[in-house]
Amino acid sequence: MKAAALTSYGAPDVLRPMEIPDPQAGPGTVRVRVRSAGVQHFDSRIRQGWAPPFLDLSFPIVPGNEFAGVVDQVGEGVTAFAPGDEVLGYGTLGSYAQYVVAPADQICRKPASMPWDIAGGFSGNGQGAHMCLEAMGVKQGDTVLVHGAAGALGTFSVQLARAWGATTVIGTADEANHDYLRSIGAVPVTYGEGLAERVRAVAPDGVDAVMDTVGGDALRASVEVVKDRERVRTMVDDETAKELGVPLLGAARSVERLIELTGLHERGLLKLHIREAFPLDRAADAHRALDTGHGRGKLVLLVD
Ligand SMILES: NC(=O)c1ccc[n+]([C@@H]2O[C@H](COP(=O)([O-])OP(=O)(O)OC[C@H]3O[C@@H](n4cnc5c(N)ncnc54)[C@H](OP(=O)(O)O)[C@@H]3O)[C@@H](O)[C@H]2O)c1
Repeated sequence: MKAAALTSYGAPDVLRPMEIPDPQAGPGTVRVRVRSAGVQHFDSRIRQGWAPPFLDLSFPIVPGNEFAGVVDQVGEGVTAFAPGDEVLGYGTLGSYAQYVVAPADQICRKPASMPWDIAGGFSGNGQGAHMCLEAMGVKQGDTVLVHGAAGALGTFSVQLARAWGATTVIGTADEANHDYLRSIGAVPVTYGEGLAERVRAVAPDGVDAVMDTVGGDALRASVEVVKDRERVRTMVDDETAKELGVPLLGAARSVERLIELTGLHERGLLKLHIREAFPLDRAADAHRALDTGHGRGKLVLLVD
């Protein structure tokens, strides 16, 4: 099959199109013919040589931990899915390819109304936002601050907070992204020096909860404006969180989260802006765009 894979670590150029053997579905898993795959910072970190202890890595490495496609092979013991089912789901590696094998309990049905590009980029950041907002206890009437609100994680977080009843969501972004933030339901605030004052201008009594996707000074400003730091979570900076007495996330992805998120998309409450869709053989360009650390919405790969 065709894949975008690594045979060494480094800059985006090391991510190259190549032919590798088709994976086979084993017990409890399905094989999916991939139509689209999300591009995540996790994948970029793997490309740069990060070796998380829970992964046994050997070249060629096919990155990609979220995907959408059509089930084409079902392993022993799988009864919930059959060849031909349109699904989306998540794994750890392997979705920058024509076929990916995933545990059957990490996929769910793709709603007919969800386009393929969106489905491929829906699982990873959607679940990250869900885990954080749940841990923060976001509820009806809250004022929520989201750092990095224009990014993939931020895009999900802003809309999910609104869907769960937050009255006001304040999102930080570069001014170029302020109209975008308004379009997804956030009050935009520019990041950088003086951030806490700008947030207080919108929420004079402080904010109820903070979702941080930036770390460092953004997390420090968070504890200045939040009423209770037990309701702050970061996806990026555990060290500063420990220093400030902010609880660590400690939650896991689950298919139940994914089903709730796809339901919100079907009801029009959770939209995903596709920043750019690249063909599989331009995966390196997708990583170049990701590595800038700026931009709005989600980068995805489309697989023929
Ligand atoms: N722990 C986990 O499980 C986990 C999971 C997913 C992601 N993450 C991490 O979360 C971070 C965000 O991920 P993502 O997928 O949303 O990334 P992304 O799509 O690349 O978006 C990053 C966003 O950050 C904004 N930004 C850059 N500098 C900023 C600053 N100083 N203050 C506020 N916003 C700033 C950019 O907005 P502008 O264009 O407006 O500058 C951009 O929209 C990444 O570091 C990623 O590694 C962690």
